[in-house]
Amino acid sequence: MGIFILGIETSCDDTSAAIIRDNKILANITSSQEVHKRYGGVVPELASRAHQQNIIPVVDVALKESGIAKEQINAIAFTRGPGLLGSLLVGTSFAKAFALGLNIPLIEVDHLQAHILSHFIAQDNSEAPAMPFLCLTVSGGHSQIEIVNSHYSFEKIGQTIDDAAGEAFDKGAKIMGLPYPGGVYIDKYAKKGDPNAFKLPLPKVKGFDYSFSGLKTSFLYLIRDKLKADAAFIEKNINNLCASYQKAIIDTLLDKLVKASEASGLKTIAIAGGVSANTALRERLKKEARKRDWTLHIPPFEFCTDNAAMVAMAGYFKYLRKEFASQKSVPYARR
Ligand code: KG4
Ligand code: ZN
Repeated sequence: MGIFILGIETSCDDTSAAIIRDNKILANITSSQEVHKRYGGVVPELASRAHQQNIIPVVDVALKESGIAKEQINAIAFTRGPGLLGSLLVGTSFAKAFALGLNIPLIEVDHLQAHILSHFIAQDNSEAPAMPFLCLTVSGGHSQIEIVNSHYSFEKIGQTIDDAAGEAFDKGAKIMGLPYPGGVYIDKYAKKGDPNAFKLPLPKVKGFDYSFSGLKTSFLYLIRDKLKADAAFIEKNINNLCASYQKAIIDTLLDKLVKASEASGLKTIAIAGGVSANTALRERLKKEARKRDWTLHIPPFEFCTDNAAMVAMAGYFKYLRKEFASQKSVPYARR
């Protein structure tokens, strides 16, 4: 037996469906949209159209892979926001129709809470974080530090006042002429570069808040000035540029996370969101954890970037408390 939840994620450019039984994954299928590559970023209208094409096949494959019949599903959970409205609307409408057709409850999920709750998906070699813990959520649209008191209580103590960390990666990559999503490419080139090759200013923001737009502008000016003297500057220095820019982002993220840990006294630390896939960030966190006696929780790669398993997991916790949504539920672009 157990509780079967179908999760649907369509907040940005990944169409994903997952089926879990309690906290175990039976299927987690994601179709990533290639159509945006040539535009250097996600084009919202193209994203919603692609979601419309993908959603039914993706759910169908997830159902087949799970080995269960759709009549066995206890509830359907969907990402209500934040994200692109047109994209969210596809997942929301699908979920409503599915719930109506099968006469099962509908559960709305916050995308960022889902990223955090991905830590509670059963894994072979690691345990879920003990409450309360501190979570750094770093995605394409958000960077925030939260105290997680329970599966239902998230206390935000810091957030970005301008660009998100993922956005900083993507914009920096764009300045260097790298494809979208830039974080992955910066990660790759940085491995061969010297992180101290170029000095970049670190933001001075109060409390546990972040700011990345100043760093991006300094990086832009550095490259613009160097290009005047040498048109091949980027190609010659790509590894060092990526390593230095990446270091500035990671130093910034860690500075506030360390401060938040010291101020709250919390030493159970987790990260979540697309940027948590970054190799150097993961290594740096492990180093800090040894130094500061943190119990660290880093998600496996498959749960870092957008996926529906995390949505199903978040839905499961709401199911236990019967926190169901109405057919009138509408998506939200921002929190
Ligand atoms: O959580 P996510 O998949 O989608 C949102 O909710 O936004 O995060 C996407 C972000 C993008 O900005 C992407 O560049 C970044 O995560 N990202 C990375 C890496 N993989 C994905 N950033 C740095 N290093 C990576 N390896
Ligand atoms: Zn995300």
